[in-house]
Amino acid sequence: MSQFLAPALRPEEEEAERSLRPRRLDDFVGQERVKEQLQIALDAAKARDEALDHVLLAGPPGLGKTTLAQIVREELGVGLRTVAGPALEKKDIAAILTALEPRDVLFVDEIHRLNRSAEEILYPALEDFRLDIVFGQGAAARTLTLDLPPFTLVGATTRTGLLTTPLRDRFGMTFRLGYYDPGQLATIVRRSAGILQVEIADDAAEEISSRSRGTPRIANRILRRVRDVAEVRHSGAVTTAVAQEALELLEVDEQGLERVDRELLEAVAVKFGGGPVGLSTLAVALGEETDTIEDVYEPYLLQLGFLQRTPRGRVITDLGRAHLGTTRDDTSLF
Ligand SMILES: Nc1ncnc2c1ncn2[C@@H]1O[C@H](COP(=O)(O)OP(=O)(O)OP(=O)(O)O)[C@@H](O)[C@H]1O
Ligand SMILES: [Mg+2]
Repeated sequence: MSQFLAPALRPEEEEAERSLRPRRLDDFVGQERVKEQLQIALDAAKARDEALDHVLLAGPPGLGKTTLAQIVREELGVGLRTVAGPALEKKDIAAILTALEPRDVLFVDEIHRLNRSAEEILYPALEDFRLDIVFGQGAAARTLTLDLPPFTLVGATTRTGLLTTPLRDRFGMTFRLGYYDPGQLATIVRRSAGILQVEIADDAAEEISSRSRGTPRIANRILRRVRDVAEVRHSGAVTTAVAQEALELLEVDEQGLERVDRELLEAVAVKFGGGPVGLSTLAVALGEETDTIEDVYEPYLLQLGFLQRTPRGRVITDLGRAHLGTTRDDTSLF
């Protein structure tokens, strides 16, 4: 299965991503309302010499949640500790929180996957900068209260719907990141090309951005693959023709869909007669995890209006069928 450009992060790509990550709010392209609100909150916190309120960042993979968390730390000029939500255990929390300096940022990625006991011990920590640690059991149990340095929790999630209400309520700010428009993505592609020292024509940058599913991570990945083609087969400069050649090689169609996206649409259209088909049935048919389908593939297909979620399952739309028709030689099945 072609996971080549799938938005989920692969470890070997972390390094490449790091070099392309904007470090300051001014370099962060798009999401203007988020930036504006965040800038005010940052300025206010700095002026008062206080920790920034806790921030929740929500949105599909690759839209800039981790980037923004790092920008917050950079703008505040404080330390950053990063932990993965699912790996955060109750027993480690006291050590992590007491080691923070005042106003530091604790970044918890995939915060919707925190385990329950870890989450509960966080509540008073977030609200009053205090930890209640219970020793012993039953009648002999005693509680020790630890004061913590004031800190900022930045949580990232691809699914706000999975966050418990008490946790969600403890964030002073919630920002939802949306897909980027092609103009913004073209700016990102040109900026990345500059960092990678690749010569790129403006219309090639536009070609790449129009096929990047509104997602900076995908735009940057396509750019790197296009650069490979430019260097190996051509003179190194990225022209529109080179970009198109590379996109064809990658099987990215004009809507930015990859083979796996088309397979998903096709499964709904053909195997399940257009739907409705339940998520788990669809996942089995595609050999994918239900989470991957929901977090990674579906959001953009829904956004394009190619797919619909109904109470009885997923349904392909006329638009979705029409798209399959244009990307297949054999439309007799529809
Ligand atoms: N607004 C932006 N401007 C410029 N580059 C961006 C922007 N947003 C994201 N990027 C680029 O896209 C890449 C992916 O962004 P990031 O890692 O922050 O996504 P994410 O939302 O944390 O994804 P995930 O949910 O998979 O963790 C970064 O390396 C960065 O270079
Ligand atoms: Mg991230």
